[in-house]
Amino acid sequence: MSHHIVEFKNVSFCYPDGTQALKDISFRITHGESVGIIGANGAGKSTLLMHLNGYLMPTSGTVNIGDVYLTKKTQQEIRRKVGIVFQNSDDQLFMPTVYEDVAFGPLNLGLDEAAVRERVDFALNLVNGLELKNKPPHHLSCGQKSAVAIASVIAMEPDILAMDEPAANLDPRSRRLLINLLKTFEHSKIIASHDLDLIMDVCRRCIVVRDGAVAADGPVMEILTDKTLLEENHLELPLSLQR
Ligand SMILES: Nc1ncnc2c1ncn2[C@@H]1O[C@H](COP(=O)(O)OP(=O)(O)OP(=O)(O)O)[C@@H](O)[C@H]1O
Ligand SMILES: [Mg+2]
Repeated sequence: MSHHIVEFKNVSFCYPDGTQALKDISFRITHGESVGIIGANGAGKSTLLMHLNGYLMPTSGTVNIGDVYLTKKTQQEIRRKVGIVFQNSDDQLFMPTVYEDVAFGPLNLGLDEAAVRERVDFALNLVNGLELKNKPPHHLSCGQKSAVAIASVIAMEPDILAMDEPAANLDPRSRRLLINLLKTFEHSKIIASHDLDLIMDVCRRCIVVRDGAVAADGPVMEILTDKTLLEENHLELPLSLQR
């Protein structure tokens, strides 16, 4: 299923203030792969994720989602395929109620009212957020906002799921719920996180980003047991591997 392939070729990105946040990044993620993106604060993980759906466009190089190159023209098409949960839920939630926020994407897909309601209920139920339906998002706790942001992306039924620190605000039970949810998502998924235990649990492959470049890319257990590599990148062994 080639439409689930993600390919970065020599992607560099420079913010308007001159910060060179990505430097010549290349990788290819095939259908069904689960890939963790790890690295120190400021390494470029969020910047990289924001290139997956054209929220940011490469300064040079190309991003390819399936058979489609990311351009201004294809951005909308690509956004239907790639769902991103941003690091800050406030960037994602902007409607008067939780229901409307989760319904926003499916409505834009042109689904009828009943189908939208079904998707919203399904997605909110998955994150244990059904009772939040009528609340304004800005009245939610941080963890509740994260759960709703995740639901709003799940409701789009994306081919490719990208999440930026999805568990950062979640309590242990909600984090476990999310891990189980991610494990059942059978398409490609890309997760940036400092929660290396979550990465180890959910991902088979791991890419280490350092100073905007790929410092390592390999099987998750090889990367997450390499103490020297982790320390060079301001990271530590996953808690479950520490003694
Ligand atoms: N809007 C912006 N304008 C200028 N520089 C930015 C902007 N956003 C991020 N940066 C810079 O780009 C670099 C990469 O930032 P990014 O947010 O991608 O890092 P990160 O790996 O996600 O970090 P964290 O672990 O803290 O989430 C950093 O040097 C950061 O200061
Ligand atoms: Mg980040």
